[in-house]
Amino acid sequence: MKLVIFGGGSSYTPELISGVIDHIEVLPFDEVCLNDIDERRLDILAGLARRMFDHARLDVRVIGTTDRRRALEGADFVNAIIRVGGMDARINDERIPLKYGVIGQETTGPGGMMKALRTIPVMLELARDMMDVCPNAWLVNYTNPSGIIAEALGRFSTVQFVGLCSGPNGWSAQILEAMGVDPARANVEWVGLNHLGFATRVWVDGVDVTEEAIEAVADHWKVDGEWLRVLGVIPATYLRHYYHRTSAVEMARQPGRLTRGEEVKQIERELLDVYSDPDVATRPDLLSRRGGRGYSDAAIAAMRAIHHNIGDRQILQVLNGGAIDGVPDDASVEIACLLDRIGPHPIRFGPLPLPIRGLIQAVKSYESLTVQAAVEGSRELAMQALMAHPLVPSWEVARPLFDDLLAANQCWLPWAK
Ligand code: G6P
Repeated sequence: MKLVIFGGGSSYTPELISGVIDHIEVLPFDEVCLNDIDERRLDILAGLARRMFDHARLDVRVIGTTDRRRALEGADFVNAIIRVGGMDARINDERIPLKYGVIGQETTGPGGMMKALRTIPVMLELARDMMDVCPNAWLVNYTNPSGIIAEALGRFSTVQFVGLCSGPNGWSAQILEAMGVDPARANVEWVGLNHLGFATRVWVDGVDVTEEAIEAVADHWKVDGEWLRVLGVIPATYLRHYYHRTSAVEMARQPGRLTRGEEVKQIERELLDVYSDPDVATRPDLLSRRGGRGYSDAAIAAMRAIHHNIGDRQILQVLNGGAIDGVPDDASVEIACLLDRIGPHPIRFGPLPLPIRGLIQAVKSYESLTVQAAVEGSRELAMQALMAHPLVPSWEVARPLFDDLLAANQCWLPWAK
């Protein structure tokens, strides 16, 4: 079995390799191919991956190549973890909106929109190459913004794919941990969009304990209990950018405060030094300073469910297909699915609770416009997307912000000139 890591020069690659090692009996890969445009990082990561397999006494062939189509030959699974424009583009995404008093974040708000505009064309090229070279392979994507990428793949390619995020499992587990409840006894209902998801109900032993869950979370996550009680659901941590936008922007604009991308750039520098050390042959602890903990668990669970035709419940980014009322069928959502060899089958949710319905629909409009803008290479649609975003307060802000964002992204967006 062959695994391809698209963006294999990523500092996350060792996380995935360690997941492969721990689950080699369930997913018996004998070849892992790292594909990246950065030769230096490719060498470092392929070297570490080889040492990790040797250390685990596994006979898995590791290849590093900058040739995407060659990488895809004979692939069974392709995991995509790319960052078009690298960390510097992320830092622009974070810094530019802040100048205008708008949140600067990797996936949320105008920063997330620019990341999507840069990334969608590359992901659609990958999908086309997969259809040519390995049409039976599965694409497992956790490249951000994962939900928007899923919509682009679902609407504009025929590749078979699963869209993932480590968040929903992580937050669901944290809710149960705050309650001190054994996950085996509990169910957490989850719905929304990627990084705009909500735990809408929690059950323990079949009894609805949502109110207790809200109190436990308010206590343990140090968030305003009254806010959660009013909402009646438990939002993913990214929702602070919406419900606490003023304080979030103020905090981000404090003098001397680094953006997350600036912090991560430093962590990555250190990580690459560690990865280059010929004595390092396991996943370094330093990687825990990155977010996205547990994403290899999500990736392994998805590949396992597909490969062994399991049909278990996983929270995925999929086209809605009628699962949530009031969201178009071909718009992506983050929802519980049953995942088997045929792919993800969204479990019907029905109507969204009213307190969160409008926000989800508004952000969904922004996301769908962003996908359309990326596919058509259209300034007008991109401007519409920015205006549709609930975190962009006015035309007066949107107009100059748009020019600033586009100017910083011209080398990735030919239509932005
Ligand atoms: C979270 C999100 C991921 C994101 C990661 C960022 O886990 O769910 O989508 O990629 O954090 O981590 P970073 O260390 O790059 O800020």
